[in-house]
Amino acid sequence: MKEIYGVIGDPIEHSLSPVMHNAVFKELNMDAIYLAFRVPREKVKEAIVGAKSLGFSGLNVTIPLKEEAIKFVKPDELAKEIGAINTIDFSEDPPRGYNTDGIGAKRALEEEIGEVKGKNVLMLGAGGAAKAIAFYLKKEGAKLIIANRTEERGEELAKRLNAEYIRLENVKSRLKEADVLINATSVGMFPDDNATLVTADMMHPELVVFDIVYNPLETRLMREAKKAGVKCIIDGVKMLVYQGAVAFKIWTGKEAPVETMERAVREALLKEKQK
Ligand code: ATR
Repeated sequence: MKEIYGVIGDPIEHSLSPVMHNAVFKELNMDAIYLAFRVPREKVKEAIVGAKSLGFSGLNVTIPLKEEAIKFVKPDELAKEIGAINTIDFSEDPPRGYNTDGIGAKRALEEEIGEVKGKNVLMLGAGGAAKAIAFYLKKEGAKLIIANRTEERGEELAKRLNAEYIRLENVKSRLKEADVLINATSVGMFPDDNATLVTADMMHPELVVFDIVYNPLETRLMREAKKAGVKCIIDGVKMLVYQGAVAFKIWTGKEAPVETMERAVREALLKEKQK
C-alpha cells in the first residue's frame, strides 16, 4: 500500500516540504506520497491522532505548531530538552517525536563557516525553530545572544541555555561584536516578504548572515546583508534540506539524496519567483 507522509502547519500553502520529499520518493522509486495540511493550533491533537488512525507513516510539523505538537507524541531526549518537535514517526505506538531543525541549521552553518565554537552568535527569535537552533549552538560552544519580540519567551529560553537575552531595540548595538546573525523568526516570510528586523546600517562587513526563512529564496534580510557587503550570506534552503534529510532517515532508515532535495526546492522557488 502507498505510504503517506505530510506536513502540518498554519499557514502551509507555501511549504516546499511536499516538493522536496516527493522528489526523493520519485528518485528512490518509493510508492509514497507527501502532502501539506493546514491545521489550526487547537486541532493539533486531532490531526496527530487522525493521521495515526489513517495509517500515515510520518509527519513534519511546522509554524506555529512545533511546541504544541510535542504534547501528543513520545519525544526523544533531544526533542524533550528543546521542548518542540518537527518530525513524527508513526511506526511505533505511541508515535515518536523528534526535532531535526537544530542539526539541519548546524550543518547549513558549519558547511559555510566551519566550527561555531567560540563564535559570537546573535539569534533573532525564541519560537520552536529558534529553540532547536539555540540548543545546538550552545552545545557546540558558541557564545549566544538571543533577541526576541516577546521578552518573557526570549528570557526564558536564554535562562534555560545560560545565554544572554536582549530586546530587539538593542540588536543594533550588540551586532557590532557579533560574528554571526541568525534570523530564526518568521519575519520576512512570504507573503510579508518586505519585512526585516535588521537593516544594512546595523551590519558590519565581517558578519555572517543566516536566514532560516526560505520563501522567498532571497529575503529582505539577505538583500540588506548584500547591501552591507557582509562576508557570507546563507539562505534557508540548506537548513530545510538537511532537517528534511534527517527526518527521512528517521522514517525510512535510508540516507536521503540531499542534492535531489536541494535541486527540487530551488527549482520550485525559482518557478514561484517567475510567476
Ligand atoms: P516556529 O515554531 O516555526 O519557530 P513560532 O514558535 O511561532 O514559530 O515562532 C516565531 C518566532 O518569530 C517568534 O520568536 C516570534 O516572536 P514572539 O515570540 O514575540 O512571538 C517571531 N516573530 C514572528 N513575527 C514577528 C514580528 N512581526 N516581529 C518580531 N518577531 C516576530
